[in-house]
Amino acid sequence: MHIAIPREVRLNERRVAATPASVVKLIQLGFIVSVERGAGLRADYPDAAYGAAGATLTDDVRALWGEADLVLKVEPPTHHPDLDVHEASLLSEGATLASFVQADLYPDVIDEVKARKATLIAMEKVPRITRAQKMDALSSMANIAGYRAVIEAANLYGSFFTGQITAAGKVPPARVLIIGAGVAGLAAVGAARGLGAEVRAFDTRSAVREQVQSMGASFLEVEIEEEGEAKGGYAKVMSQAFIDAEMALFRVQAKEVDIVITTALIPGRPAPKLWLADMVAMMKPGSVVVDMAAQRGGNCELTVPGESVIREDVHIVGFTDLASRMPRTASQLYGTNLTHLLDDLSTDGVLHLDPMDDIVRGAVVLLKGEDPEWPAKPAKKPKAKAAVAAPVAAAPPVTRAVGATKGAQHRHVSHASDAGSDSKLGVWIATAAIAGLFVLWAALRYGLAAGADDPASTQAASGFLQHLTVFVLACVVGWHVVWNVAPALHTPLMSVTNAISGIIVLGGIMNLASDGPIGIAGWLSVAAVTLATVNIAGGFLVTERMLRMFRR
Ligand code: NAI
Repeated sequence: MHIAIPREVRLNERRVAATPASVVKLIQLGFIVSVERGAGLRADYPDAAYGAAGATLTDDVRALWGEADLVLKVEPPTHHPDLDVHEASLLSEGATLASFVQADLYPDVIDEVKARKATLIAMEKVPRITRAQKMDALSSMANIAGYRAVIEAANLYGSFFTGQITAAGKVPPARVLIIGAGVAGLAAVGAARGLGAEVRAFDTRSAVREQVQSMGASFLEVEIEEEGEAKGGYAKVMSQAFIDAEMALFRVQAKEVDIVITTALIPGRPAPKLWLADMVAMMKPGSVVVDMAAQRGGNCELTVPGESVIREDVHIVGFTDLASRMPRTASQLYGTNLTHLLDDLSTDGVLHLDPMDDIVRGAVVLLKGEDPEWPAKPAKKPKAKAAVAAPVAAAPPVTRAVGATKGAQHRHVSHASDAGSDSKLGVWIATAAIAGLFVLWAALRYGLAAGADDPASTQAASGFLQHLTVFVLACVVGWHVVWNVAPALHTPLMSVTNAISGIIVLGGIMNLASDGPIGIAGWLSVAAVTLATVNIAGGFLVTERMLRMFRR
């Protein structure tokens, strides 16, 4: 298949959908790649590098689009200023386009692609499932944008981020408030902390509290118990009482902080207005607000989307191209996301859109010009259903007395560990294990009674019974202990519990230490000691790696 990489024509867009490195990978996947001359220039990728990577360079934009089976872009297609046509109208009939689409903001894209009977892959719709993490362009871009938001703030803020004590006087550290600690917000927390600022963050989802704190920032709370997390881990619309308490908290913060970075968003909705005009007026002159939600109307009442303005002596930055302001890295990550997507969806340079594939079902928004109607998926097994349904059903918002007072503290209620039907499963397993143990015990008891005249076999059978009892009870207790640990901690926990292999090592060594020639049991002990030692060392290595990910 032929892939085309056109130059981005939207105003201020500097990114490109493929870098020379990702072109090499696309060619390895079996695709033939053509790149519009100058496509990568604003991201510092010269034409020569694309040529060296194996791409064909062209100036003929119509031919580039028209001859391609698959066009890769960053921004949703738009009116082409030089050709005076909509970019999507340049697609050949039946071709495929992969880019950000944001159909709610740019409905013209859908109409144009439908008219070409083409297929449209929306990069922002790639589902956030484990397999698709490496294709998650939305997170890649939000991460860059969060970092860049801090850099934009630092550029306008007239002081240090880090506190300083010099002979000429003391400069306090900048106080930064991040509203919304999703991907972009956490990246902003990391960047601001890295520059030495004192950072505080607020989010309606209690699940992010530990993430914020682990990055060295403080997590602000209000005095209302309402969980902000809806199905799938996304944010939900909060009650008016909660928003009132949040406003009271922000009014206190407005007088204290120097920089506010707002990233609050509920998927599929206009951005909630959280930083109101009176809060801007309360801020110190020279303070900065960076409103990352500007494209969806903005979190700040005074934001002008796409611009940086001064209101009430406060800088209000509403740039909607933050990721594009770091074009080289943004293109590198986006290009890699696209390469992974195509690696997953193609064989020998030919795209296969499997209607049963979750990524295809999520990201393909038009199939040959039609709204796709995917065949029903086979129903999940009841066991899996119960495990997933329980936490969701158990997570209604719990609203307690409203404490929207000045400086109020807010506490979240977490329902995440309330896995009702999972513990039912645990009870079933425990009951079955104990029943099985009882049957075994009765059988052995009967056997002991029957062979009471043979003391050796009686001793062996009673020893076995004792070990079996300990083993089954250990399984039941172990099950309950592990089940109550948060899923995020399962890997480090399991790797450390691998150290239980130490018991095997000791048992094996004791067995080997016994007198007499090494028989089958001896060699089995050698194998057990070797394998268990590898397990112990590996367990600690994995734990160390996991913990390093959480350390700054
Ligand atoms: P996300 O969905 O991961 O995070 C949004 C966060 O806001 C969530 O954690 C949510 O719980 C929180 N939130 C929702 N309502 C809230 C409220 N009332 N108070 C406090 N927190 C609340 O989204 P992501 O990927 O971090 O993106 C954040 C924003 O940045 C989005 O608006 C996105 O469109 C924007 N963005 C802007 C760019 C730019 O150039 N300006 C580039 C990339 C992203």
